Amino acid sequence: MKTTGTVSGIIANIVIVRADGPVSQNEICYVILGETRMMAEVIKVIGQDAYVQVFDSTRGLKAGDRVEFEGHMLEATLAPGILSRNYDGLQNDLEKMDGLFIERGSHTEPLDFEKLWEFTPLVEAGERVTAGSWLGEVPELWISHKIMLPFAMEGDYVVKSVVAKGEYKIDEVIAVVADTQGAEHAITMVQKWPVKQAIKAYVEKPRPFRVMETGVRAIDTFNPIAEGGTGFIPGPFGAGKTVLQHAISKQADADVIIFVACGERANEVVEIFAEFPHLTDPRTGHSLMERTTIICNTSNMPVAAREASVYTGMTLGEYYRAMGLKVLILADSTSRWAQALREMSNRLEELPGQDAFPMDLPAIISNFYSRAGLVKLGNGQMGSVTFLGTVSPAGGNLKEPVTESTKKAARCFYALSQGRADSKRYPAIDPLDSYSKYLEYPEICEYFDQRIEPGWVDAVYRGKTLVQRGKEAAEQINILGDDGVPVEYHERFWKSELIDFVFLQQDAFDDTDANRCPFLKNMLPTSEKPPIVVAVIDLIETLPAIEEDDDIRKFRVFLRCFPLLSDIGETISSQPNLPLSDDPLEQVDQSVQPLGLVPGHDSSGMGKLRQGQEGVVPTIHPIEVNIFWAEILSDGRPDGAQDCGSARPGRPDNGEMGAVFDVEDGHPTALLLRNVCQPDGDRHMVPGGR
Ligand SMILES: Nc1ncnc2c1ncn2[C@@H]1O[C@H](COP(=O)(O)OP(=O)(O)OP(=O)(O)O)[C@@H](O)[C@H]1O
Ligand SMILES: [Mg+2]
Repeated sequence: MKTTGTVSGIIANIVIVRADGPVSQNEICYVILGETRMMAEVIKVIGQDAYVQVFDSTRGLKAGDRVEFEGHMLEATLAPGILSRNYDGLQNDLEKMDGLFIERGSHTEPLDFEKLWEFTPLVEAGERVTAGSWLGEVPELWISHKIMLPFAMEGDYVVKSVVAKGEYKIDEVIAVVADTQGAEHAITMVQKWPVKQAIKAYVEKPRPFRVMETGVRAIDTFNPIAEGGTGFIPGPFGAGKTVLQHAISKQADADVIIFVACGERANEVVEIFAEFPHLTDPRTGHSLMERTTIICNTSNMPVAAREASVYTGMTLGEYYRAMGLKVLILADSTSRWAQALREMSNRLEELPGQDAFPMDLPAIISNFYSRAGLVKLGNGQMGSVTFLGTVSPAGGNLKEPVTESTKKAARCFYALSQGRADSKRYPAIDPLDSYSKYLEYPEICEYFDQRIEPGWVDAVYRGKTLVQRGKEAAEQINILGDDGVPVEYHERFWKSELIDFVFLQQDAFDDTDANRCPFLKNMLPTSEKPPIVVAVIDLIETLPAIEEDDDIRKFRVFLRCFPLLSDIGETISSQPNLPLSDDPLEQVDQSVQPLGLVPGHDSSGMGKLRQGQEGVVPTIHPIEVNIFWAEILSDGRPDGAQDCGSARPGRPDNGEMGAVFDVEDGHPTALLLRNVCQPDGDRHMVPGGR
């Protein structure tokens, strides 16, 4: 018989319940207010009194109201059909809910119990199985969803019978297994699992040894995250945490993405709902939504369920990991979850820790992060959960408790800097403050040596050193003035800028830049060329020393041209019938004007041409354009560029560089750069197409 109780005290959403039977910690109960059944979780038990946290507003509740205990913890329902759904933190299917706002006490089924799934058995009668063993599979969108022996079933079992291949509903019996005592258990495609407990249906959790490609160059090159690894993105308000996570969720090399929107603004999630169904997954060609599940507990939804939302997300991730898949969980923002914990702890009148967060905050956070990881399943296959959360430290103070505690738990740290965000250098990941501890793992170094090039990690460190020296030089220049420092300081500074422009910056809203230049895919060496990043770093290290001041200016002008060139490349390729002119100046203007934009750009021009573009098929690869610029620099060409002075980049009217396009059958095929001052001077070509 179920335990019941009556309300004896109410402190906001904490309700004290006098129970008439046994109550366990974290048990779920329903607080009954008239017709409404509000879900709640037991967070403290003292004698007969249970302190429960209600996931809804307790407005109107009074002492004496009835409470029913369920006898189990908060559970996630696991079965085919989870992918591409939008849940709230308690796994209610948001699409099944009516109205604009969630009604108090409304619950919906997370899955479709009527739908038929094509089941194919993977075991036969007589086989031995344990929790997590694959009994069969059903196609769910594009993945093969494994039906497993429920994780809660401990010990060894023997399969008595399995249904034949065919169509079944998720709650139909698909197998019968017997335990060692001979008792039989019927297995369906649905199982439940308490979200606060890790799913441990694996044999081993080795150290991560592969890299998860995120598609964000600043991460993949300088601070890669391992598959099965953990990382976090702290950043002041508006520094680009959400945009960065969205960019990762589009490009990451994962089979399943779980996006937990925890306590952030609802419109940010709406962007995903609206955008993802129309985007294609770069790896499979299917709609991006088909690999994504969104858990949404935004700022206008009950605060208490925030905590549940991150756990529900993790549980769904672990479930798909047990099928041998690569799962990426993104949570935005874990600070909101910590704030929910703080609220609860304050109401319980617990002893406060730093900033009034609960004393055990570091333990709660590290427990959660430790659920991620690469695992070896019973059948020898590997699966992984990679976790990347954001943290919003108030005022950008990285010494606050949530950032500090997360730093202890996560292995990658992507600090967003206000300075970089202010100067529109996105993603604002600070190349020096950020780190990835995976670069220290010999397994990961070996992986890079084999996948990319021997000595890759050394090249990364060399690149970081160049950036570090550039930063130091910039500080000196700031203090002593342009003329107060030796010319090498300028050189160091601009060299680090080159790295910044060539690969650290990436406009998340520029189709070419964000979606077509994920680094690892493009940086594999070819027979003639070393990987791009190594080429750039080598190049910078071997650039001839700058001797005259004019050269420094040249460097600066060239750097400012990069974004312009990639834009033009894209514009031109989107308009194959654009008339071409012999005059490069005119060419630049012609290519920009149809879009209603003014020719000539400043350094933040990347992506400005985005508006008004449709169906762009870029043939120019911005990075190659950039590399190409770097090559010109190393050759010391073009000679005519000395006089450029304060000329606007991209506008060769003062005798600087111009861009023209190579034509074949009247169509532009490549971007050519020419020194306009010397019409017969050297021409360099950037090959089009990719
Ligand atoms: N990679 C990027 N490329 C281009 N623009 C970006 C990029 N990252 C951020 N931005 C710009 O910065 C703005 C703010 O970013 P975002 O909303 O992600 O900040 P946030 O850190 O999540 O803020 P909050 O703490 O308020 O949630 C974006 O609207 C966008 O204009
Ligand atoms: Mg945000």
